[in-house]
Amino acid sequence: MCGIVGYIGKNQAAPFLLEGLSKLEYRGYDSAGIAVYDGSHIRVEKSVGRLASLRDKIEGDMPQGAVGIGHTRWATHGRPSDRNAHPHTDCSGDFVIVHNGIIENYLSLKEELIAKGHEFQSETDTEVVAHLMEEVYNGDFEAAVREVLGRIEGSYALVFLSRKDPDRIICTKQDNPLVIGLGDGENFIASDIPAIIARTRRTYILNDGEFAVVKKDSVWVTNREGEPVTKKVFEVNWNAEAAEKGGYEHFMLKEIHEQPKAVRDTVSPRLSKDGKSIIMNELNWNREFLDSIKKIFIVACGTAYNAGLVGKYYIEKLARVPVEIDIASEFRYRDPIIDEDTLTIVLSQSGETSDTLAALKESKRQGAKTLAITNVVGSSIAREADQVIYTWAGPEIAVASTKAYTTQLIIMFMLSLYMSGIRGTQSQERISELLEALKKVPAQVSETLEDVEPIKTFAKQYGFNEDVFYIGRSLDYDVSLEGALKLKEISYIHAEAYAAGELKHGTLALIIEGVPVIALATQKNVYEKTLSNIKEVKARDAVVIGIAAEGDNELEKYVDHVIKVPETDELLIPVLTVVPLQLLAYYAAITRGCDVDKPRNLAKSVTVE
Ligand code: AGP
Repeated sequence: MCGIVGYIGKNQAAPFLLEGLSKLEYRGYDSAGIAVYDGSHIRVEKSVGRLASLRDKIEGDMPQGAVGIGHTRWATHGRPSDRNAHPHTDCSGDFVIVHNGIIENYLSLKEELIAKGHEFQSETDTEVVAHLMEEVYNGDFEAAVREVLGRIEGSYALVFLSRKDPDRIICTKQDNPLVIGLGDGENFIASDIPAIIARTRRTYILNDGEFAVVKKDSVWVTNREGEPVTKKVFEVNWNAEAAEKGGYEHFMLKEIHEQPKAVRDTVSPRLSKDGKSIIMNELNWNREFLDSIKKIFIVACGTAYNAGLVGKYYIEKLARVPVEIDIASEFRYRDPIIDEDTLTIVLSQSGETSDTLAALKESKRQGAKTLAITNVVGSSIAREADQVIYTWAGPEIAVASTKAYTTQLIIMFMLSLYMSGIRGTQSQERISELLEALKKVPAQVSETLEDVEPIKTFAKQYGFNEDVFYIGRSLDYDVSLEGALKLKEISYIHAEAYAAGELKHGTLALIIEGVPVIALATQKNVYEKTLSNIKEVKARDAVVIGIAAEGDNELEKYVDHVIKVPETDELLIPVLTVVPLQLLAYYAAITRGCDVDKPRNLAKSVTVE
């Protein structure tokens, strides 16, 4: 997803712009560019490919000047190319723009501007903004930006630089994130905190519709109507190193290994001192509130959706409230039945996923109560929802989500237990049993990470297969979906997960000699049935890697290899079984020489539709 940076101050802009963009590489991108005001002109340099290509291009001839903006582009309108890379300029080169989002009415604007004689250099939607600036500018930079904002429709984080007013950068946002870093005699702009954390921890997080005039010594924020907004300084309390690799070869591997801590940090603040109940200070729900909820929707995308599937199981099993689950991009257009008795829970690591945010807004519009479960404090989704529960996983940089998933499972589990406590749907003994099991999970996640050698071996053995299948029933099926998603996104192996009982209805036709099948068998009530399905694929000469709990001495009789995870309650076992699947995906990607942290075509945070 596009990344934005900006600098104005006492030092050279270009070094910060390049450094900031490198910290945003995790968002995924296909080209990069910077623009710096050199005292008389704005020099724009851009290049398709990695940031290294841009660096090479300007090496020895770095743009000079103390005000500038930069961008990493993730193509939506127009293929990745030098011309389509941002920043974009008007015909005169006086106005330079970077943008994250989509200008939905750009085609009609473009036609209008071409008719007026504007010459376009790119195929992007963004370029219309620069030409519109040229068209409406009447000596007042701010007024021109406001007028342009009145003409464009869509989502955006936009940053404007003008040769005519080089003592300021103007920025604004709608549905895309933008942060301002407050320095001493210098200020910074970025899509996300990792870009500025090495320079300052003091930030303003812009809300939708806010408009900031950033000078080297001041930041002036107003709302859509031009009224001043008093911003609260948000102090970033995590370390710069937390956003770095810390000795691991890839962010993904680091984040897989951070899971014991992430799970512990997510659990501990929500356990009472005596460890006998769940505290959800974020919610303070009561019986009356829960009785008013007749239906819950869980809405999310990708891995967060997979975590939501487990969440649905937990809520229905423990709290006995009906739950529907939807992929956010489907939910927003399928006209779901939402009313005041509905609770919509959105799950999102980044808190910025465009479809999830839209689903949340639509739920609110139709009167539902809303709850966000997210990892990013102050994210758009966190700010939009009525209530928020944070997964304390720490920054997740790798495109492939790992620790966000396990902490989302933990939150869904704790939320379900919390709800069941209020609704009285589980006995005190069962709640205590589950809490005891929960307390052991962080250490058990560590245990699953201790012996990775067999997983590396399987990855080497099967990493060059073209297809891999995952099967399981009940919660094992939900985890299979996540295992398959991990494998396909980073190793590009075609991986599919099937409900094991569904195999006979078509998929079995694909099971031939030597095809690897990862079979999860941890759920007691369907254990025998899963074994039968494993026998079905073995009978077609598949190679089966079984995933089971420690005490299971049965599965190994029917499969080629077994990976065991520590024993826990079967409700919590997804937090453990997913770990070997993450590792398998990681080492398969390494075997195939893939760029693990930056898989092709993917972005960390999908802030466009
Ligand atoms: C996970 O590995 C993915 N890269 C992706 O599916 C991700 O989970 C999805 O885009 C949702 O992101 P979010 O949690 O930030 O909303």
